[in-house]
Amino acid sequence: MTQATARAHTNIALIKYWGKQDEQLKLPQNNSLSLTLDHFYTDTTVIFDSSIATDDFQLDGQKLAPQNAIKIQQLIDHVRQLSGQTAHAQVISTNHVPTSAGLASSASGFAALAAAASKAAGLDLTQRDLSRLARRGSGSASRSIFGGFAEWQKGDSDETSYAVPIQETVDWEIAMLTVVVTAKEKKISSSVGMKRSVLTSPYYSAWVANATQDLTQIKQAIASQNFEQVGQISERNAMRMHALTLSSDPSFTYFNADSLKVMQAVNQLRDAGIPCYYTMDAGPNVKIICRPTDAPKITAVLSADFAPDQLILAQPG
Ligand code: PMV
Repeated sequence: MTQATARAHTNIALIKYWGKQDEQLKLPQNNSLSLTLDHFYTDTTVIFDSSIATDDFQLDGQKLAPQNAIKIQQLIDHVRQLSGQTAHAQVISTNHVPTSAGLASSASGFAALAAAASKAAGLDLTQRDLSRLARRGSGSASRSIFGGFAEWQKGDSDETSYAVPIQETVDWEIAMLTVVVTAKEKKISSSVGMKRSVLTSPYYSAWVANATQDLTQIKQAIASQNFEQVGQISERNAMRMHALTLSSDPSFTYFNADSLKVMQAVNQLRDAGIPCYYTMDAGPNVKIICRPTDAPKITAVLSADFAPDQLILAQPG
């Protein structure tokens, strides 16, 4: 019996990944860039045990049905293939992230799984190879191998698609206030949504071209620690991603009424001289990019509509 435990933190993309060039290998259409956060993480233990007869997956104390564990199964099978390990695996995972609410629990989940499973199987992978392995579970997980700002380079093969650190130690003023408008599961998974956008949005090619420009610009803004520019580029990139959902056929959206309410509040705060910007993923929760020193003022405004446990401030992690 061999076992290993790993913790990985979630990341929020500032330049989004939306669309694959290869479904199987999860190779994206565009490079993406994220900030890893201290507050949300997943702890995962993997035990390879020759005395058990099947693989067993447990998330937050509940056994997962095989149909809900396909991607986990595939990653464990791949690790067995890479390592020559033949025993069945027990996987025990605890999410410190509201699952499937657009808070990217898949990113921390598959990054922790890749690290724990490879170690338990006796592999000693480099960070690059860990990032490639995590990518097979969920594209965004490739970035959660690193702290701070990380870029997922799309590549064009399994070997060339992985994340690299851009700025691991973020020693300047930037934070993310998550507004949890709902912790419910999303109806359209990111995979299904991406596929529909690639196949049916007439704006898809413009998205890829724009995201590439946004990426170049945000890297310069990060290097010069220009908070306002990082926020502006992130917000416009997120809205262009969501424009792909609205322009798909049939159209869909991850916004709900509360998401719009938060976006409006951010615009008003900005008009009142508090620099803050929003971003959203494949779910209705909104993340507000702000300076930590401004967070109390922003929280005070949002407290009119949201309870204290719906407003979570996270720092780079
Ligand atoms: O890797 P997935 O399947 O969780 O997709 C992530 C998609 C977004 O969160 C919307 C964007 C991103 O780059 O994280």
